[in-house]
Amino acid sequence: MDEAIGKIREEFKKELLLASSSTQVEQLKTKFLGKKGPIQELMRSLKDYSKEERPKVGQLINVLKEEVSTHCQRSFEDLLLKEEKIKLESQKVDVSMPGKKNFRGRYHPIRQILNHILSIFKEMGFSVQYSPNIDSDFYNFESLNFEDDHPARDMQDTFYLSKEMLLRTHTSNMQARLMQKQKPPIRVVCPGKAFRNEDISARSHVFFHQVEGFYIDKNVTFADLISTLNSFFNKFFGQKIKMRFRSSYFPFVEPGLEADIECLVCSAKGCPICKNTGWLEVVGAGMIHPNVLKAGKIDPEQHSGYAWGLGVERLQMLLNNISDIRMFTQNDARFLSQF
Ligand code: PHE
Repeated sequence: MDEAIGKIREEFKKELLLASSSTQVEQLKTKFLGKKGPIQELMRSLKDYSKEERPKVGQLINVLKEEVSTHCQRSFEDLLLKEEKIKLESQKVDVSMPGKKNFRGRYHPIRQILNHILSIFKEMGFSVQYSPNIDSDFYNFESLNFEDDHPARDMQDTFYLSKEMLLRTHTSNMQARLMQKQKPPIRVVCPGKAFRNEDISARSHVFFHQVEGFYIDKNVTFADLISTLNSFFNKFFGQKIKMRFRSSYFPFVEPGLEADIECLVCSAKGCPICKNTGWLEVVGAGMIHPNVLKAGKIDPEQHSGYAWGLGVERLQMLLNNISDIRMFTQNDARFLSQF
């Protein structure tokens, strides 16, 4: 019996030394003290001993049992403490460390101003529709009453993709297309890009953004156009804006006009931004030409309408005193992060 007890003790000591976590110690405890363990087995063999021997042997087994149990308990507590310590260590926060700065995305300045513009027109009852960047000569020019030999059709200004297809030179390409699809009253705005084959400079680029808008119904008048533009600019700048209207020519409107607002940079005193005139041109507009209504299958005897096209870059430049249109496409984070 002594030998059997000694063997179990040796075995237990060896395994305890190898246990490196509190869970392993617990497993060890069940292995040695559990019902199917070697110590219980010894207990069961007690019946084979004589009455006289039994108490002595029993005591030896009990000593072993006690030993295994205390060793396990001690080792379990030690390891648990160590584990807790490591856990706490890893959760430690150094409050003196500088904070981590999260990167926050934002809308491009053109998208921001576009959203502002669209929200005002939506409030005024206009719905938003889109027309394609690549379009036919018909929608970009012909339906808009451009004569065959109009200079704007010249290769110099227009990016032609084929004889018939081109990059739209203005968002007005949506006019006839929409009229063909929808019956008056039509009250829409169409934001998008316009492309022109021009030299890139501080003031002009090969592409820029416009917001086209038009309204067709019975008895739409020139006065409606003026008051719509007026209230838009008042809302856009959040103050009463002085406007000036000059007559102008676009083949698709009659009469046509260009509208200026007073220069907010110099309070109309004259500065480089307004070229010392005190005024800034912001929008082209007019009453839709009868030929355009006809191209859109709307009877000009029954209906009339107005249209405008405003430059988005222009307004953002004005609002934030930006002097070079190229800034919008250079992707300089120092510029973009200011908006
Ligand atoms: N399409 C014109 C331009 O690009 C602007 C315009 C739109 C003028 C609608 C009148 C009516 O300059």
